[in-house]
Amino acid sequence: MQDTRSRYSMIAILLHWAIALGIILMIPLGWWMTDHITDPSQTARAFKAYQIHKSIGLTILVLSLLRLVWRLTHRFPELPPHMPGWEKAAARISHVLLYVIMIAMPLTGWIYVSAGWNVQMHVPFPVPTFWFGLFQWPHIPGIAEASDATRASTAATSMAIHSSLAWGAVALVALHAAAALKHHVFDRDDVLARMVPLLRPRG
Ligand code: HEM
Repeated sequence: MQDTRSRYSMIAILLHWAIALGIILMIPLGWWMTDHITDPSQTARAFKAYQIHKSIGLTILVLSLLRLVWRLTHRFPELPPHMPGWEKAAARISHVLLYVIMIAMPLTGWIYVSAGWNVQMHVPFPVPTFWFGLFQWPHIPGIAEASDATRASTAATSMAIHSSLAWGAVALVALHAAAALKHHVFDRDDVLARMVPLLRPRG
């Protein structure tokens, strides 16, 4: 089914909500596991949480790349004509930033685990990734085989970006959701309804 100028296709809607749900779940999961990995009573659970985090995150990466290709190759609904120019510009900028986060967050996580380096203890720490326990997900070629100094700096940089982007994601997702609600409640247009099939369009 094609995206038209008035609504999103079912594929675009499914990708949107699968990625949104994944990101909303991943941020508290990421914070919880990093806080509890050093707590001896929670280490085993935290290790499982790391594997789940990596599995969901890599799935988000694949879905986000699919979504980006879909977005670039299909027509999509335009913003309502009543929106002032500044609001349209803000919407476009925040959507681009959301795509950056959707791809950069999982990519920096994958780079970090590919480096296999424990940043706190300054020692090699190679841990394989098992995608939902089904198969081993490969590391990014070239990173695991690099020198210790390169792996250490790659791990430190990628995790610093990963951690900072988490706050960017919280801010952007909150802004995005608030804007969608504003359209629905105050502007009373169909911006939210075209991404939520259960809502009846007004116009
Ligand atoms: C949209 C996807 C993702 C989100 C929203 C996300 C979010 C987070 C957050 C909030 C943290 C905690 C950061 C902190 O403690 O400051 C974290 C840590 C971590 N993430 Fe992700 N993540 C994603 C994808 C991935 C992927 C794909 C991988 C690896 C394949 C990954 C590997 C890790 C690891 C290993 C840590 C812990 C690092 C440490 O122990 O110091 N993440 N993530």
